[in-house]
Order: sequence, then structure tokens, then C-alpha cells
Amino acid sequence: MRKLCLIVMFVCLSVSTIVEASGPHKLLLTVYYESKCPDSKAFVLEQLVPAMEMLGKYVSLQLVPFGKARSINQGLSGFECQHGKSECLGNLIQDCVLHQMKGNTDLEKLKYVACEMETHPSTEGYLHCVPKAKVSYELIQECVSSEDGMMLQLNSEYLTNRVKPSFIPTVTINKSFNQQIQDRAQEDLVGVLCSMLKEARPCAELYNNQALDYVLL
Ligand SMILES: *[C@@H]1O[C@H](CO)[C@@H](O)[C@H](O)[C@H]1NC(C)=O
Repeated sequence: MRKLCLIVMFVCLSVSTIVEASGPHKLLLTVYYESKCPDSKAFVLEQLVPAMEMLGKYVSLQLVPFGKARSINQGLSGFECQHGKSECLGNLIQDCVLHQMKGNTDLEKLKYVACEMETHPSTEGYLHCVPKAKVSYELIQECVSSEDGMMLQLNSEYLTNRVKPSFIPTVTINKSFNQQIQDRAQEDLVGVLCSMLKEARPCAELYNNQALDYVLL
């Protein structure tokens, strides 16, 4: 009997942790991007960072650094990337660091990616954004040069292939793709998210200010 109680308690505890971790009421925004792509860079810096700074409380962000790459021989012979070898290295490093940052907030992970996209350092093998993200340099080198990194990239490939993006970066909301949302997100991600988060306070404030501007003009 005692054993059963313990099992039941354990199950309840694990279930509540899972729900907590995935954020039950948050909208899931997934971004499929690649490390040396100018459109990905512009999207991360001009759309994603401001949107997450404003709406991070309401949005769970999943970052998938893979884009139009593909594995050769199930990854055993490496990967081929749209912008060449250095892009593959950049994707791999970002995947390794994001994995190490599992315990960090989405905004912290995004700030790390923004650092990489701003200067493309990871694509040249410099890891100056890594210590800035408070991640151990050694752990990342280990990940990059081992099967762990390969497995992370194979997983990113799997996630990307489920969406089959024709444009990089591509976004999905709650795991589903919509062309109109995709197109609008490149220009006005805050607007896209606020159209789904009408009750969120920052959105209400934004629309009130816009309405006020309109009246005052
Ligand atoms: C997305 O999923 C969350 C959590 O399940 C839900 O609360 C929200 O209404 C969904 N939003 C859209 C636009 O599908």
C-alpha cells in the first residue's frame, strides 16, 4: 500500500512539473532559422528580440537552428548547408549552446542567439557569445566535436522537415504553419502575436497608444 502511495505521488509530481515547464497557457512560437542567413539575422534582431522582450510572459519560444541544411548519411558524413560549411558549424554550436541553456529563460536563450546572429562569430568558430551566455566553453567544444552535437542537429533536421519550410526563417504558432501569419511575422511579429493575445496587458497598452496617436493626429 505504501509503495502504491509513493508511486501515485511520484506520478502527480512529474505531471505537475511537465505542465509547469511547458507553460500550459503560453502560445508556442517556433522559429526555424539558420546561422548565416541574412533574413534570419534580420528576423531575430528586428522582430523576435523586441517581441519576446514585450511578450515573453505569454509566449514560449522554440529555436531550431537548421534551415535548409541536410544530413549526409544520417549525419555520419556531416551536414550540407545553404551558406556553406561555416553555416553548418554555426548551426551546430547554437544547437549545443541552446541545449546547455535548458534551464535558462527563453529570453536568455534568444539573447545568446541574437549575439551570434549579430556578428556571425560561431560560423567562424569563435565562441565569444558562449561565455557571455554563461555556458562552459569546454562543454560546447565537447558537444560540437562529438555525437551529442550530431544528434542535436539530426533532431533539428527532423523538426524542420516536419514543416518543410520554403522560406527561412519560418515561424509556426502552436506547431502549425499558416502562410499569412508567416508573411506578416517578417514585418510585424508583435502584431501577429497580439492578434492572438488580445487580453495580454502589453498588447492592450500598445493598441490603446496607437488609438490615442490616431485620435491626436
Ligand atoms: C496555443 O496554445 C495555448 C496553450 O495550449 C492556448 O492557450 C492558445 O489559445 C493557443 N493559441 C492559438 C492561437 O492557437
